[in-house]
Amino acid sequence: MTRIIETIEEMREWSASLRAEGKTIGYVPTMGYLHEGHLALVAEAHRVSDVVVMSIFVNPTQFGPNEDFDSYPRDLPRDAALAADAGVDCIFAPSTEEMYPADGGIRIVPGPIAQQMCGASRPTHFDGVLQVLLKLFNIVSPTDAFFGLKDAQQVAVVETFVRDFNVPVRIHRVPIVRERDGLAKSSRNVHLTEQERKEAPAIYRALQAGKEALETGMSPHEVKRQVATEIERDTSGTIDYVELLDYPSLGEPTEDRERILACAVQFPTVRLIDNVIIKGSEQR
Ligand code: PAF
Repeated sequence: MTRIIETIEEMREWSASLRAEGKTIGYVPTMGYLHEGHLALVAEAHRVSDVVVMSIFVNPTQFGPNEDFDSYPRDLPRDAALAADAGVDCIFAPSTEEMYPADGGIRIVPGPIAQQMCGASRPTHFDGVLQVLLKLFNIVSPTDAFFGLKDAQQVAVVETFVRDFNVPVRIHRVPIVRERDGLAKSSRNVHLTEQERKEAPAIYRALQAGKEALETGMSPHEVKRQVATEIERDTSGTIDYVELLDYPSLGEPTEDRERILACAVQFPTVRLIDNVIIKGSEQR
């Protein structure tokens, strides 16, 4: 039976009682409209924790003024059924009023790691992500928290924040889950038109081809150009960025260290992101 908690007070009390029993709490933060990517996070949380808590909250502070906050897909009964099947012990599903009763104007400013890639076109996105995550960590009080690598920049920003601010939670990276044709699973995929859905797997194909080209000696500049050209040729989307950076610092890439080849593609109503990680020569 999955317990559904809507208030901060009840969530805190339940968490404190579990902690008092010596239980570890694995936490999966989500914005709902669950798919297999979220369920992979739950499976990993089960593997390392005694109890699994999932939050479902579409966080307004991480959306820009002209972004898809209002149209973001929401269906709590559907999510609750999927979470129950996956063995989630508790869903924390607060209202916006519960999470943000007042705004004192204090913000977390994540710095350069949040300014390129998605941060370049969504300048306040990661401020909002860290704001809500700090609140959620303080409410759920997890021992471990699980994040999908589709949002690889988010993982890098959260890991850096947790390290720099000594937030007492262990962060776990979970690999991307893909559709059979390669498209990375995302709650936003439901908003793709039939034609866009047919085109979208080209994004992963282009990234994979870019990774292979890089590994066989093509220059980073040429690789980025090739990825952008293939996506522009095979989809009707507009490239927001194609980046090749060190991972997870998101600094200058070097061959000996892990790198990320990542892109964002804007379709009329959906923005898709995807990435591949390339092992450094030191790790092969
Ligand atoms: O990745 C997401 O779904 C969100 O950014 C998160 C981590 C739940 C914060 O709102």
